[in-house]
Amino acid sequence: MKLKDKVALVTGAGQGMGRAIAQRFVAEGATVVALDLNLEAAQQTLADLGGKSIARCLNVADSAAVAAVVDEVVTLFGRVDVLVNNAGTGAVDAFADITDETWARVIGVNLTGAFHCAREVVRAMQKTAKPGVIVNISSTAAASGDGPAHYCASKAALMGLTRSMAKELASHGIRVNTLVPGPTNTPMMQGIPQEWADAIIKGVPMGRMAEPEDIARVALFLACDDSGFVTGQNLAVNGGSAFL
Ligand SMILES: NC(=O)c1ccc[n+]([C@@H]2O[C@H](COP(=O)([O-])OP(=O)(O)OC[C@H]3O[C@@H](n4cnc5c(N)ncnc54)[C@H](O)[C@@H]3O)[C@@H](O)[C@H]2O)c1
Repeated sequence: MKLKDKVALVTGAGQGMGRAIAQRFVAEGATVVALDLNLEAAQQTLADLGGKSIARCLNVADSAAVAAVVDEVVTLFGRVDVLVNNAGTGAVDAFADITDETWARVIGVNLTGAFHCAREVVRAMQKTAKPGVIVNISSTAAASGDGPAHYCASKAALMGLTRSMAKELASHGIRVNTLVPGPTNTPMMQGIPQEWADAIIKGVPMGRMAEPEDIARVALFLACDDSGFVTGQNLAVNGGSAFL
């Protein structure tokens, strides 16, 4: 029970990695607040798990809505111990075809959404004088450039956000790290043509994509005291397909 009595917010918890992370955290004793655009999916993540965990509809790009959810969590549970900024969105545009709207949407969710959640959670941690942990989910694409420019830029920027927050907030007892998944078998990936999937797997020395549970186990490590002296780092989970 590595997260016994901890209160953990997980964004994008309705499917894929976010669902696996939320379920793993509940199994480790946490009260999870499962946040997603899709409320029904977030509720499904927690179905039959028991405990005090709750699901809420949230668009992380909406800063007022983020502030309201964090306020509600502090009112209900008195604290926030862990935030996993997992909500993310992809796109497939060629560089010259990226519109202002698509650029703003991808950056708005993947980077600004993570900032909104981190800012409100840090404010709550400082107000309640309880230190805590933030995990930002980036992507190997941030380093490799294998992906559209807005997606790669948003995921690379998360690494800078992590490092700045880690330095500034270490003295407040708040740790911040970046978990960097490689290709992972989630609904986001299941939409791609089989020949792309085959080519991706060929590039993984360990011979498969990650499963969401591979990511969840490492998210747990970063969220719990096992990583108590780790902050500001990129931790890749990719079967050896890239070195950061
Ligand atoms: N799957 C991969 O291969 C892969 C690889 C590297 C990094 N990632 C990153 O990992 C994270 C999770 O990926 P996944 O594959 O599980 O994705 P997914 O698309 O399967 O699930 C993402 C979840 O986030 C929710 N979401 C999207 N926009 C949101 C918003 N604005 N506010 C709140 N919730 C929102 C969706 O409703 C969905 O439930 C993402 O940040 C993604 O960029 C994925």
